[in-house]
Amino acid sequence: MARFHRLRVAAVDRLTEDAVALTLDIPPDLREEYRHTPGQHLALRRTEDGREIRRTYSICSPAPAPDGAGPRHLRVGVRLVAGGAFSTYAMKQVEPGDFLEVMTPAGSFTLEPAPGRYAAVVGGSGITPVLSIATTLLERAPDARFCLIRSDRTAASTMFLEEAADLKDRFPDRFQLVTVLSREDIQTGLPSGRLDRERLAGLLPALLPVARVDGWFLCGPYGLIRSAERALRGLGVRRSRIHAEIFRVDSAPAPSDSSEGAAPGPARGTVTARLDGRSGTWPVRDGESLLEAVLRNRPDAPYACKGGVCGTCRAYLVAGDVRMDRNFALEREETEAGYVLACQSHPVTERVELDFDR
Ligand code: FES
Repeated sequence: MARFHRLRVAAVDRLTEDAVALTLDIPPDLREEYRHTPGQHLALRRTEDGREIRRTYSICSPAPAPDGAGPRHLRVGVRLVAGGAFSTYAMKQVEPGDFLEVMTPAGSFTLEPAPGRYAAVVGGSGITPVLSIATTLLERAPDARFCLIRSDRTAASTMFLEEAADLKDRFPDRFQLVTVLSREDIQTGLPSGRLDRERLAGLLPALLPVARVDGWFLCGPYGLIRSAERALRGLGVRRSRIHAEIFRVDSAPAPSDSSEGAAPGPARGTVTARLDGRSGTWPVRDGESLLEAVLRNRPDAPYACKGGVCGTCRAYLVAGDVRMDRNFALEREETEAGYVLACQSHPVTERVELDFDR
């Protein structure tokens, strides 16, 4: 069950003009709770002018070995979003020694280290979870290989430049790095221009044996992920080998920052929810999501973006039927197995039952 704890900021490192990495101290008694699978994220919470704000940031540090102690520190990457309440606060105000409210790790865009060949196509801050995935894999699976294709605007705006170069130095035979800059002039010597579907369809087979890649990890803005998915499908890659995490959905409505203020329409059914071992049944008002209905009664229900992007509100649909507005977080296997995003779900049947613990 996801929980918030106050964690001390150990370091704030400036990565680029508009991005920082926050390193958080994990006290010994919480290290098991903050053990993460590479690729997961942390939701950070703060209250500003009486409003609660939550945002998720991916963990970039490698995951500890399962038979060792939990992590002493976790590091997340934060990129400034224009008008973003949390990213502006993180960039301009957070200092070492401050305390932040941090949820335990969540997210299913993950890779448990295993022998094989893996590849990623990332854009901008999409490097963050993939850095954790690649580092953990190369450190823990001696025969595994990883190919990282990253797209950024300019070299100066590229996050974790040194960390990626470091992987190349440490694992020269098993780590392949290709950087494409969309706005850089030709003098850098790096490939430039946009990574669209046609370009990827030509580039990927030239870089690696596409059919022999065990897992593809796509992370970044919506447009890049859709282009990469189409390119891979066109090259014959099975859908089950493609994992995607969208960082930004340009057409998305702004996520709501608080559960307060939900328009109270007439009740149109009930939701029964199991959360942290306790269950309750409550009315669902017309137009509200199942998450909003649960939050009015159980403020500890897990969520972060409320926009169908982060997957923090994932729950198992035990009974009834729902309609999801949108889903950029759950993989097809998860929806087929019965999981839904509570923040996007509206009841189709009079009674719906969710299990957040499963
Ligand atoms: S809270 Fe992020 S997908 Fe539902």
